[in-house]
Amino acid sequence: MTNDNKSVKILGLETSCDETSAAVVRVKIKDKKAKNKNAGQKLNIQILSNIVSSQIDLHRQYGGVYPELASRAHLENILPAIQAALKKAKTGLDEIDAIAVTIGPGLIGSLLVGVETARALAYTTQKPLIAINHLEGHIAANFVGGNPKSEIRNPKIIKFPILALIVSGGHTSLVLMKDFGKYQIIGQTRDDAAGEAFDKVAQIIGLTYPGGPAVEKTVQEFEIKNQKSKIKNSINLPRPMINSIDFDFSFSGLKTAVLQLTKKLGSNKTKKYQAQIAAEFQQAVVDVLITKTIRAAKKFKPKIIMLSGGVAANKLLRKEMTDKIKKMIPNSLFLIPDSQLCTDNAAMIAIAGAYHFLKNLKNKNTDLCKIKANPNLSI
Ligand code: KG4
Ligand code: ZN
Repeated sequence: MTNDNKSVKILGLETSCDETSAAVVRVKIKDKKAKNKNAGQKLNIQILSNIVSSQIDLHRQYGGVYPELASRAHLENILPAIQAALKKAKTGLDEIDAIAVTIGPGLIGSLLVGVETARALAYTTQKPLIAINHLEGHIAANFVGGNPKSEIRNPKIIKFPILALIVSGGHTSLVLMKDFGKYQIIGQTRDDAAGEAFDKVAQIIGLTYPGGPAVEKTVQEFEIKNQKSKIKNSINLPRPMINSIDFDFSFSGLKTAVLQLTKKLGSNKTKKYQAQIAAEFQQAVVDVLITKTIRAAKKFKPKIIMLSGGVAANKLLRKEMTDKIKKMIPNSLFLIPDSQLCTDNAAMIAIAGAYHFLKNLKNKNTDLCKIKANPNLSI
């Protein structure tokens, strides 16, 4: 263990979908010495390296992730990513305290590459191997202080309960976190995830994969033009389940509404209205996500509200959620990771791993044979 007995260096590996990533983080955790149980935990996290080898160009021609190609690319990229992560962190494997790896949820062929590489490394170096849930990793991305100049406030103290909205290509979940390692799903999508809806709608209106950044860019360009020529957005789309009393989501109806609209418009008009459809779709997703999160916050009264996952990189969602939470839930701190920590990366897995290691949580497992990839793992 490095420096003192509460500081560790963790190597993280992430291969659950289409990003091959390796990272080294150093984490110090100090329980605040107050008698008060609610005093929180002081964090000191440093990302020494976070190498992300993206396969976006490989999958673009298929309009989504092609699982077999993803596993092959992970096999080619994993060792170079680890080497680069160690080099950038100026660290040798001997200085690493433990290896953390995503074991699920995700694509089985992709997960296996990370899990088996981590197992082999742990076996040869005799370091502990820590199994991490990918969704827990997304939440853990919030434990790193953001750029003080950005809208993100630095989470020096973590207090529970935390309400986390995870919005990615595979998940849309509202999770109540009562402590490190203690999660309760209070709502989730009944069909498509928000990121999946971005990807499918982008494809329907003629934009490229991944859909989220493509929709966002198209809307930004439209807004610049819009301000000059004052074009009104004449497209109206539904906000599915926005008024339901539960905390679940549904995005497949929104996608179908876009599909029906484009059929009605025909290909020429769809092209003409592409940016307006994109803008209205993005606003519909953002409205639903924020409304449900605020309703959950009013019920569960969290000390902190966190946003995470690939869709959390969306600028409209970041801005509107920051503004609305400040106005409507002023007593909760609101955190969002820096954009590059929202999409899949191994630093978030290493950070989650450090908590398991330091707190001796259930997933810390030194029996290498027991850790298995699980594509359907739930948080
Ligand atoms: O977390 P992530 O990298 O992978 C999964 O765990 O699924 O999320 C990927 C998803 C994709 O669906 C992508 O379109 C979406 O996040 N995404 C965005 C943005 N950047 C990525 N969605 C909206 N706006 C963005 N800027
Ligand atoms: Zn993810």
